[in-house]
Amino acid sequence: MARRFFDDVISSPVNIFLVGLICYFSYKLIKKDSTKSPARKNSKSENDLAKMPKQDFTLEELKQYDGIKSDGRILIGVLGKVFDVSKAKDFYGPGGPYSVFAGRDASRALGTFSVDKSQFKDEYDDLSDLKSSQMESIKEWEMQFLEKYPLVGNLLRPGEEPTVYEEESAEVKKQL
Ligand code: HEM
Repeated sequence: MARRFFDDVISSPVNIFLVGLICYFSYKLIKKDSTKSPARKNSKSENDLAKMPKQDFTLEELKQYDGIKSDGRILIGVLGKVFDVSKAKDFYGPGGPYSVFAGRDASRALGTFSVDKSQFKDEYDDLSDLKSSQMESIKEWEMQFLEKYPLVGNLLRPGEEPTVYEEESAEVKKQL
């Protein structure tokens, strides 16, 4: 019976191709599942990153947190606030649909609903040329981010001094 099934399968190139396809997708499925297993989760991964102490960032400092450099953490700036979006690596990590946002001020891109590189400036972006409807839409995104992701601190304007967040530094000292 098994032998007949085997002979039937190898008798046609189409069948061989289909079996190959099934094997390939089964392998992909098993591989994907194994990355979600508790054993893998317990190993140090991007989801296990420690809570980031509250702090402010210049545009240049923010660039370190693009999911590739540093410890794999991903930060995104929205309307002067900086969010830790590391838990959404599928969106913002390397190869993700919104990876261009990682380590950048995403305000303009969110306001114009575009993921084009032209929406990210190397200097501080005051967004003064955007329409009020676009500003409204950034505020809506900001609300979403506030609900979903930890707020780490503020994105500094040129020359602006970072705030010293006493409470957080005390917490860090306690852990040491
Ligand atoms: C064909 C166009 C697009 C489709 C079909 C699409 C679809 C989606 C879907 C299905 C999600 C996941 C929602 C969820 O699971 O919570 C998502 C998330 C998202 N989309 Fe799009 N999208 C598109 C274009 C864009 C563009 C142009 C932007 C640029 C601003 C954008 C920004 C985002 C962001 C920032 C998130 C993630 C929000 C979060 O962190 O929760 N999308 N999109």
